[in-house]
Amino acid sequence: MAGQRDHWTSRRGFVLAAAGSAVGLGNLWKFPYITWENEGGAFVLVYLICIAMVGLPIMIAEILLGRRAQRSAVGAFKTVVGKNWGFVGGLGVLTGFVLLGYYSVIAGWSLRNFVVCLRWSTQGFDPAADIGAEFGGFIGHGPFQAITTILFMLVTIVVVYRGVGKGIERIARTLMPILLCILVLLLISAMRMEGAGEALSFLFRPNFAELGWSGVLEALGHSFFTLSLGMGAMVTFGSYMSRKESVVSASMIVVVLDTLIALVASAIMFSVIFSTPGLAESVGKSPVGMLFVTLPAQFYSNIPLGTILAPMFYMLVGFAALTSTVSLLEVVVSYFVDEKQVPRQKATIGVGAAILGLALACAMSLGAVNSLSTFEVFPGKQGLLSNLDHLVSNWFLPVGGLLITLAVGWAMTREATREELVNEHTPGWFRYGAWHFFLRFIAPIAVGGIILAVILGRDFS
Ligand code: TRP
Repeated sequence: MAGQRDHWTSRRGFVLAAAGSAVGLGNLWKFPYITWENEGGAFVLVYLICIAMVGLPIMIAEILLGRRAQRSAVGAFKTVVGKNWGFVGGLGVLTGFVLLGYYSVIAGWSLRNFVVCLRWSTQGFDPAADIGAEFGGFIGHGPFQAITTILFMLVTIVVVYRGVGKGIERIARTLMPILLCILVLLLISAMRMEGAGEALSFLFRPNFAELGWSGVLEALGHSFFTLSLGMGAMVTFGSYMSRKESVVSASMIVVVLDTLIALVASAIMFSVIFSTPGLAESVGKSPVGMLFVTLPAQFYSNIPLGTILAPMFYMLVGFAALTSTVSLLEVVVSYFVDEKQVPRQKATIGVGAAILGLALACAMSLGAVNSLSTFEVFPGKQGLLSNLDHLVSNWFLPVGGLLITLAVGWAMTREATREELVNEHTPGWFRYGAWHFFLRFIAPIAVGGIILAVILGRDFS
């Protein structure tokens, strides 16, 4: 089996695919709005510290585990960490299933905005239109939600069906450079706007009076989500990596890319917001709609070349989401391929169909079907999609992350982890002892803090 295992065709292939997994709606949608809610500067600084002290060490741990095992999540924990640890991988597979079930619905919204912007760019934009109400109508419209969700899942299924090298790697190699180019174009355009200076100082000038403990925990929780950690996704991707490459430098590149893209996306959005009189106040304390509602109108009134950039921008959001949905599906499919010996094509279709079923239920839970939209499992969360998001972001990812730090930091031997990390490919700056210390002590304490806060009633979704 091991001999025929599909591998990345090059180091760049792995890095782009892993970065594609990490860069997604977390960077373009969630990070900007939670940064806005937490008043910028100090929150960004704390987020960067979390990424460096918790995110990077766990990223290295996940990739090294997968690479050593050459098996996806469940098998990796079983063979490398110990027989009884398989359930951690199992939790990851379940998380992938549930997360993709609702992520694909939101990913589908990028398709809708792409089409709407194409129409505005070609047929003219009506400044009097109520974009918020139109978007709200779309969210609650069953058939539209079903169409965008199905389309997004179908493309995801086709990519995973084609395998690691020919599917996942190829799509990442094609889309990631395009994504970076569009982002740079938008950044140049945004930096020439009046509000650019204010946006940058909002992002990078810390004012600690504005940040409370809940902001710190939110930064920490988000650093997990945005790096695709805590559910074996990076274990799975690492399992297709060859021994000739450095886990450390690959991890570092992925983490830096993900962070840069989140910061650039925020700089763009905030420049737009600060350049429009009165907009900052109206975005105010409910910035959740920043990406899908606030931004589209601005493209047509305030951004130079906006009619060209707007559709391109939503294409970018769609690409970023696609490289993430592909990696989510791969986590579940690879379980059936590696552990149950199901052929990839069959596994992809079966798993894909099952997740599509869940996704359609989520898509109908935003107003279209009453019974799905109103029930409440977690207090204050209405409908299937919100409840599942709460379950994943508050429970599954932090608990999975904690178990991964314990598995690699405590249950694996030093010899084993050192062998994976320290060799002739390792970059000079890497200190094994420091990594091990952060993974054994700092990361579990920090993640334990999130779990404790959740138990005490804090909400991260
Ligand atoms: N990192 C993705 C984002 O920022 C979301 C995500 C979380 C994810 N866990 C994942 C994607 C696992 C792929 C695999 O949007």
